[in-house]
Amino acid sequence: MNIINYTKQYLDKEDKKIILEVLNSSNLTQGKYVNRFENNLKKYFNSKFCTAVSSGTAGLHLVSKALGWDNKDYIVTTPITFIASANSIEYSNANTLLCDIEDKYNTIDPNKLEDLIKKNIKKNRKIRAIIAVDYGGMLCDWSALKFISNKYNIILINDNCHALGSRYNNNKSYALNYAHIVVQSFHPAKNITTGEGGAVLTNIKKINDKIRSFRTHGIDYLKKRKYNWDYSISEIGYNYRITDIQCALGISQLKKINKFTKKRNEIAKIYNKKINNELIKTPFSKKKVYNSFNLYPIKINFKKTKINKLEMYNLFKKNKINLQVHYKPIHFYEYYKKKYNFSENSFPISKKFYDSVFSFPIYYDLSSNNQNRVINILNKII
Ligand SMILES: Cc1ncc(COP(=O)(O)O)c(C=O)c1O
Repeated sequence: MNIINYTKQYLDKEDKKIILEVLNSSNLTQGKYVNRFENNLKKYFNSKFCTAVSSGTAGLHLVSKALGWDNKDYIVTTPITFIASANSIEYSNANTLLCDIEDKYNTIDPNKLEDLIKKNIKKNRKIRAIIAVDYGGMLCDWSALKFISNKYNIILINDNCHALGSRYNNNKSYALNYAHIVVQSFHPAKNITTGEGGAVLTNIKKINDKIRSFRTHGIDYLKKRKYNWDYSISEIGYNYRITDIQCALGISQLKKINKFTKKRNEIAKIYNKKINNELIKTPFSKKKVYNSFNLYPIKINFKKTKINKLEMYNLFKKNKINLQVHYKPIHFYEYYKKKYNFSENSFPISKKFYDSVFSFPIYYDLSSNNQNRVINILNKII
């Protein structure tokens, strides 16, 4: 019996061939494949600018640096996201504000967001940005978020790490129609992969210029050089570059995004149909959204099942199926609990989500036999 994980990358012959091309070329990094990958992402997202970086986390960090956050600033994100979304706020010593999710879609709740903003404005706090997360491929209510962003003059960032391939109103390039900045990750658990990798997309030149400079130590490429070996640095940056090897893989993977997304949707459809139990909620669909299903989160009412969450996890594991939980809420982590005085009940919908959720296996080459193995075990257990 083979092991089934919740996720798995898919690489074909073309992917391997293009990597070999780079290995046989003169540049392993800082060559033409980085620009090519950035241009292809720009086309995909219909964006003016794109900077590819070494990870999604590096991308988020560079955004915080480019926007110049400091300890007087407040940035909003949601408890149900990967820790990197919140850490990127803390890197700059800014303050993290959390906003609970919508029960139905697992994304930031726009009504609660507006209440949170109003409350903080009353306290004379400066809210500089909202980092909204298109969780698992399901999209936020972007129309509502854009309205709030305009009304209160707050920068809107789309942590789009799960949602490459999703569509809003049938538009795959939706993200920058609503957010000022979009961040991607190409970790192997994402919809396409470069091994490690990420990208920041925006239509705002000033932001992109800063991100490009901070990606390479803060070197100001736009300043005229007196000598070829000279460069100017006025603010320090990092080495968050991505290699040509990674970008070549990204170019080849991006070509397959429609095929990958279609297959993930077919797998989701089978789960939706075959998981039929009143104690289990499969993901809701949203009229405007074509979901890329980076994750297939199901919610189980463990108050009414014979076994608890850990027992269920272990039973799957015994059957060589590795489920996962996305995510332990941000306010459950010691660092955030201590700094902001959060309790587990501070965000009740997120807590309820965490008590019930498991990410079920979904990836391009999950066979129907293996998917049926997962479904049969679930139906047997519950
Ligand atoms: C929602 C979200 N944001 C940010 C990241 C960070 O991306 P990376 O792993 O490429 O640093 C991830 C990746 O796991 C993610 O899922």
